[in-house]
Amino acid sequence: MQIYVFYIQYFKPKELKLNILKDYFCGSTNFKMNFHSTLTSWYSVNKRSLPWRGSKNPYNIWLSEIILQQTQIKQGLPYYEAFLSNYPSVQALAEASETEILNLWQGLGYYSRARNLHFTAKHITENLNGEFPKSYKSLLELKGVGDYTASAIASICYEEAVAVVDGNVYRVLARYFGIDTPINSTEGIKQFKTLAQSLLPLSNFGDYNQAVMEFGSQQCKPQSPNCELCLLASSCKAYATGSIKILPVKLKKTKVTKKYFNFLVVDSDDQKTYLEQRTEKGIWQQLYQFPLIETAASVSEKEFLTHFKNTNKITTPYKKLTLFNTEDIIHKLSHQQLHVKFWIIRTKQSPENAVKWSDITTYPVPAVIERFIKNFYN
Ligand code: ADE
Repeated sequence: MQIYVFYIQYFKPKELKLNILKDYFCGSTNFKMNFHSTLTSWYSVNKRSLPWRGSKNPYNIWLSEIILQQTQIKQGLPYYEAFLSNYPSVQALAEASETEILNLWQGLGYYSRARNLHFTAKHITENLNGEFPKSYKSLLELKGVGDYTASAIASICYEEAVAVVDGNVYRVLARYFGIDTPINSTEGIKQFKTLAQSLLPLSNFGDYNQAVMEFGSQQCKPQSPNCELCLLASSCKAYATGSIKILPVKLKKTKVTKKYFNFLVVDSDDQKTYLEQRTEKGIWQQLYQFPLIETAASVSEKEFLTHFKNTNKITTPYKKLTLFNTEDIIHKLSHQQLHVKFWIIRTKQSPENAVKWSDITTYPVPAVIERFIKNFYN
């Protein structure tokens, strides 16, 4: 009990529901040490060998963490390797063109992350003498770097005592401590950060942070975690109360809006097509696409022809117009559900500024268009 009182005073976890820690600190005086030493020992045996592990270069860690916010480690690895071999330094990334970067990012989605990556590389090169900021607080000032990335870089590269809280950490803590505060609520974000911060060991913050993340992704998995063989099971609240499946709690997202996209795919006798660049804010900014007609609902061929004639998007005379996919392709984004049709417009001549099909892969395009091109052209 004494230790618990000391702990609460020392760390002042204001937002924390005190009873969460009380349960644990009353039970075991060594609780905190036990928690982090169990995780770090587990990590030393079970960690995956990954190219950025062992590096304390902030450029490498920044790249890996930004990519891993988009995808899982297995899928993110080839992207990390490609970025590092094309741009071995922050200066090299700054000198690249936005199109090259978007092209390399293609398939990861959420392209504003790639644009921020480029913006920040230029900022560091031009204004910070090519050096990354050296503390959590100053890292937070970089565009595209939030609490998660700043904590990861500061703890891994500079051994600063800041806790990383990603989806894996939320899951481990929510289950272990039996916390049902929604992890995407303002209260939850504060509460979990405070808890994570209070659990930090006295040194090796980078390894400890990676240990919790790795433990979350390998052991305390979202579905069917292997609780029977878990080193923390004997003191895990969710395991004891049968609430593994319901923790962590996440608030339902805002309503997803449906959109209906009709792409006009010119296919000319001289093997060309036509692409336009999306310049407006919103999804896919700066990416290329086939000319688009958006409709209020999914359209029949007859309805589509009316739209096609009215919009004058393609004025080159056509020989034949066919629908490539009879069923709409459903493409899910965070706030939108796209219903996509590709209309093939066979023409004799190609439009002005047409693009050769053989050059099409040099243009960064959204994943749904990339998949279409693979099916249609290859
Ligand atoms: N997920 C994202 N970053 C990670 C890291 N550094 N270690 C383990 N899992 C991660």
